[in-house]
Amino acid sequence: MAALERYDLIFRNVRLRSGETVDLGIREGRFAAVQAGLAGEAGRVIDAGGRLASPPLIEPHCHLDAVLTEGQPRSNASGTLLEGIAIWAERKQALTHDDVKQRATEGILWYASQGALHIRTHVDVCDPNLTALKALLEVREEVRDLVDLQLVAFPQEGILSYPRGAELLEEALRLGCDVVGAIPHYETTRDMGVESLRIAFDLAEKYDRLLDAHCDETDDDQSRFVEVMAAETIARGLQGRVTASHTTAMHSYNNAYAFKLFGWLKRADLNIIANPPDNIILQGRFDTYPKRRGMTRIKELLEFGINVAVGHDSVMDPWYPLGTGNMLHAAFLALHIGHMSGYDEIPRVWDLVTDNSARVLNITDSYGIAPGKPADFVVFDAPTDRDALRMLAPALWCVKRGRVVFEREPSTVRVYREGQEPRPVVYLR
Ligand code: FE2
Repeated sequence: MAALERYDLIFRNVRLRSGETVDLGIREGRFAAVQAGLAGEAGRVIDAGGRLASPPLIEPHCHLDAVLTEGQPRSNASGTLLEGIAIWAERKQALTHDDVKQRATEGILWYASQGALHIRTHVDVCDPNLTALKALLEVREEVRDLVDLQLVAFPQEGILSYPRGAELLEEALRLGCDVVGAIPHYETTRDMGVESLRIAFDLAEKYDRLLDAHCDETDDDQSRFVEVMAAETIARGLQGRVTASHTTAMHSYNNAYAFKLFGWLKRADLNIIANPPDNIILQGRFDTYPKRRGMTRIKELLEFGINVAVGHDSVMDPWYPLGTGNMLHAAFLALHIGHMSGYDEIPRVWDLVTDNSARVLNITDSYGIAPGKPADFVVFDAPTDRDALRMLAPALWCVKRGRVVFEREPSTVRVYREGQEPRPVVYLR
């Protein structure tokens, strides 16, 4: 009889998103076998008990330089974007290398321990010393055992509206940022916004980087920079490499314009990132009733065949005082605010924080549960993606390149009824 195949780690009885129940055999950091009834042995064998194994959650849009600063130097009393910007301007003066590293690393632990093993963070480069950037370049290396971190050079105060903004942006790319950022709607004039995008696109070409701009994050229906992004993307042949984040103004566009725009977004293969936690509380603040929802048109964009992902954006910072870095919370909000509760829409919401985000990060070749791919995955305490979203199920095991990097005990709630044996309450039918 032939010797049993040897693996480093085996997960038995995991349920894939397709509904298939399989075993995962992992060797040298990669999936070596994905099949039912795997005949093999390993140093560690874990029985997942039929729970969902998903490719890792992805955070495609956050701000780790500002994470966990809520209350410093004061809390946002009004909850508005403008007060948040004022508080951040004060807090930014006090940034130090160690301060950024400590908070960003803690924030990454929060995200990763809940299943987000890929993170794209914007880093404010409107700082002559690039303090936050230099700290996050170090963090990117230090956390490689847990997460893959992409850094966006983000000109928070403008490329043209901030002194030497374009120079600082380029310096950030020279230092090793993965992605070029921009913020056209924040530039002083419309013309400067358009010009700032051209500068960002020039840099993306010059340094061969992806591009991800904060774009049209306002309720102003005249904020129309995403059309400029589509035009530049097509003109330069950068289809699939460009992302527009937030695009909340799209919520307020008239339908005739919005659907004309969709055609160009599709031709540009532009990615859109919605950030429901922040935008549902920051937008609509100048409205009386009815109040706008502050979220881009996720459902309609998806129906049009445009790639949409969901980000959390902020965790305990001047703009968003809540959150734990759980990407399922962001997805849950997207489902509700975006009216995506249709039976077949619920699993599509899972795509927003997994497969669709993988396209944004340009990592599809190495992402997913399949033989030969890096063994990155998360087992949730639920049988399906639909149930995991419904229950906001905890991540029981997070595996990065074949190593269990987080492990959580499933929790049990018991009910004690008079005259009955105690029994657990299980949130499954
Ligand atoms: Fe953002």
